[in-house]
Amino acid sequence: MLSSLPAATYQQWIGDESELARIHRHLSEGGGAPLFVTGIGGLGKTSFLREALVTWLEASPYKPDHLLWTTVVQPLVTLDSRLAAPRRRHTFDQLLADLGAQLGLQVNALPSNERKLQMLARALRGTSSIVVIDNVETPDEATMALSIVDALSSVAQVLVTTRYQILHSTGASIPVRELSEKHAHQLLRLEAARLQLGEVPEEVFANFYRLLGGHPHALKLAVAQLAHLPPDAALRGFQTHAASSQSLFHYIYETAWSLLSPAAQDVLLGLWVLPPQGAGWEDLRLAFQAGGGMMSDEELLSHVAELAALNLIQTTADHPITYSLHRLTYNYLSYKMGLREAATGDEADEQV
Ligand SMILES: Nc1ncnc2c1ncn2[C@@H]1O[C@H](COP(=O)(O)OP(=O)(O)OP(=O)(O)O)[C@@H](O)[C@H]1O
Ligand SMILES: [Mg+2]
Repeated sequence: MLSSLPAATYQQWIGDESELARIHRHLSEGGGAPLFVTGIGGLGKTSFLREALVTWLEASPYKPDHLLWTTVVQPLVTLDSRLAAPRRRHTFDQLLADLGAQLGLQVNALPSNERKLQMLARALRGTSSIVVIDNVETPDEATMALSIVDALSSVAQVLVTTRYQILHSTGASIPVRELSEKHAHQLLRLEAARLQLGEVPEEVFANFYRLLGGHPHALKLAVAQLAHLPPDAALRGFQTHAASSQSLFHYIYETAWSLLSPAAQDVLLGLWVLPPQGAGWEDLRLAFQAGGGMMSDEELLSHVAELAALNLIQTTADHPITYSLHRLTYNYLSYKMGLREAATGDEADEQV
């Protein structure tokens, strides 16, 4: 059952039991009403919902017949076609095909999305099932998610994680909260230990929290930079870019980028085609090679380690390791690739 959940991107989920209980309560007492887990990018919606489901399923005697989890951004279906085509957002029929596949159904043969939804609803009727739609970001994606919510809510418990605020007449909403100062310190300490950064004074963590707040993704990226930067320099940078969370994030990514070797930068750009739910080493290597990258396994491994040490690539704690990029990292890479393309375009223009 738990195998349908995405691999954890956290070593340990940090937060209070009472946070998880907000979701547990809905699962036990919500009468099957849809639930929207909301918050800005990187705040921890996917992790929160994953952890809440794991703990709830472990503790509860209830076992659903089906637990379906689909992520709005998905690779194209096969590795070959995925790599041949430019990465694109998950369309509605891909989402439905993914849900169908998890039920052993070929919904793609049907002519309309409406019919596909009806087929999914028929398969779920009479079962007790949970359907998760993860990583909704844009208004278009919210509309897609709402169609699924409307079609499946009467036959399954539908859960959605979304950056975009969704209004729904019968649904409940649980906003993800920032980590408290205590929990932010705990995350920073754990990450510093995992990345073998040595002893970091508590005062540095206090300053990180003061400037970055309890945003787990920002904290993870920022603390990893202490392997390269003295704390004072890191803090000065955050301070200078604290005007908006957008400029702060951009600065944190740009700094991480600047700390990479040119070869690791190329590897990161090459991993743009990595599926959002992650890939094992073989698929990672294939993805990199299919993008035209050429290097030995040892070299690739050492550059991937460089990326992991800066938290630019997420790795699971358990073996076999799953490698994945966070959605915000994809966004940053799109920006970087846009710059590269623009630069190449300019050169081409000049040559003409
Ligand atoms: N409570 C937590 N404890 C430990 N790590 C966390 C926690 N919440 C989030 N993280 C880590 O922070 C990063 C961002 O979390 P996550 O991907 O869940 O955010 P999100 O809100 O789903 O982002 P997006 O809007 O981009 O989908 C991940 O690396 C995750 O492992
Ligand atoms: Mg998410």
